Amino acid sequence: MERENFGSKVGAILAAAGSAVGLGNVWRFPIETGQNGGAAFIIIYVLCILVLGLPIMISEFLIGRHTHANTAGAYRILSAGSPWKWVGRLGVFTGWFILCYYVVVGAWTMHYTFLSAINAFYEAPATQYENIFNAFVSNPWMPTFWLFFFIAIIHFVIIRGVKLGIEKSAKVMMPTLFVITVVLTVCSICLPGASKGVEFLLKPDWSKVDSTVILQAMGQAFFSLSLGMGCLCTYASYFDKKTPLAKSAVNVSIIDTVIAIMAGFIIFPSVFNIGMNPNEVGVGAGLTFVSLPNVFQQAFGDGTLLAVVFSTLFYFLLFVAALTSAISLHEVATAYVTEEFKMSRKKGATIVTLTIVVLGTLCSLSFGPLSGIQLFDRNIFSLFDDFSGMVLLPLGGLLISLFAGWVLDRQLYRDEISNGGDLKTPYFKLLVFSLRYIAPLAIGLVFLDQIGVFNFLK
Ligand code: PHE
Repeated sequence: MERENFGSKVGAILAAAGSAVGLGNVWRFPIETGQNGGAAFIIIYVLCILVLGLPIMISEFLIGRHTHANTAGAYRILSAGSPWKWVGRLGVFTGWFILCYYVVVGAWTMHYTFLSAINAFYEAPATQYENIFNAFVSNPWMPTFWLFFFIAIIHFVIIRGVKLGIEKSAKVMMPTLFVITVVLTVCSICLPGASKGVEFLLKPDWSKVDSTVILQAMGQAFFSLSLGMGCLCTYASYFDKKTPLAKSAVNVSIIDTVIAIMAGFIIFPSVFNIGMNPNEVGVGAGLTFVSLPNVFQQAFGDGTLLAVVFSTLFYFLLFVAALTSAISLHEVATAYVTEEFKMSRKKGATIVTLTIVVLGTLCSLSFGPLSGIQLFDRNIFSLFDDFSGMVLLPLGGLLISLFAGWVLDRQLYRDEISNGGDLKTPYFKLLVFSLRYIAPLAIGLVFLDQIGVFNFLK
């Protein structure tokens, strides 16, 4: 069967950036920055990207493009029968596993876009927002309805194929996302008292930086760039031979980081405008679905057109960000099933979608009817979330850096990143050094930290 490629370099970069820019940029990066020393955290984060993120992203691109195969196939081709082939399978599993719970939050963003658009938060007292959220997620029907809707959109994009589905949608959605981000940033920065929010994000405070903060920055860089699993490798398998790998990786990282920083400028000026303590806004779902709807109503005028528009655009932005990431996760599994089990794209995608419908529904219902099912004090959703974030991603990142640094043939590596000698690669030695020593060590530390070893030692 003829394998598709992306039709243009821009399309390829936008698709990969779509994978990277996701919920992590909005619901975790800004708050981590504010609480961990502002600009000091941003500097450390950017260093993590330079030293770890880029070498691993370039390697994942290279492995995908060289083999032109799904992630499991790619590692199998390159490792010639050794156990390293399991790294690819792990990457596919991780992508699929993350998707199972990621779609749940994607569904929530649709519901909140809808609520914002119909002005449902008008005159809700501040204390009411938590109840609104809890009532919604614990309801057996509403979240499931949005979940099916969200998964259906992903499915529709995926079955249209690489060029007409993934690339075309990224070419529409990424510029849209960027424009909305700029509009919201400008509105937020114009609020009275916004300068305090800007200061909270940008004033460097090195006294807050300790080893935990550095590990947090590394973990966030990893998740945010979609590293350590099969996404970027799968997308790169659709790159053509002329796509410059290192430059593309730099572009994707810049887009991802700029959007993450701008998300901070959307959120914190409003938080300070209403005199709220940024340490009380929470992170993740609490920040996004409990604190922010209230913050936006108060900052822009309860029930006014401006509040409605701002809030609707904000949740729509989250929806687009989540959707492009979810599409990339689905593609990892679809490419795998289609190629390894030799079936049509439509059939492969349908099988993947059905598994996501089942497991996604279980994750979604774990806030309501299935909340009683708990393991290690976590509901099903949190089990998926924590197991992938704490175990699968760092483990995948570690193995990928070891594979790229120690197993992959040096000459092959050099040929690929220089596009067969066409591009100069003065950074080659540094890259290899990072892959061999720095990345495995650093990711190993993040891994130990995530599974709680350091807390235990304390
Ligand atoms: N990078 C995405 C985000 O920031 C999450 C993601 C992780 C997407 C891994 C795909 C693969 O939300």
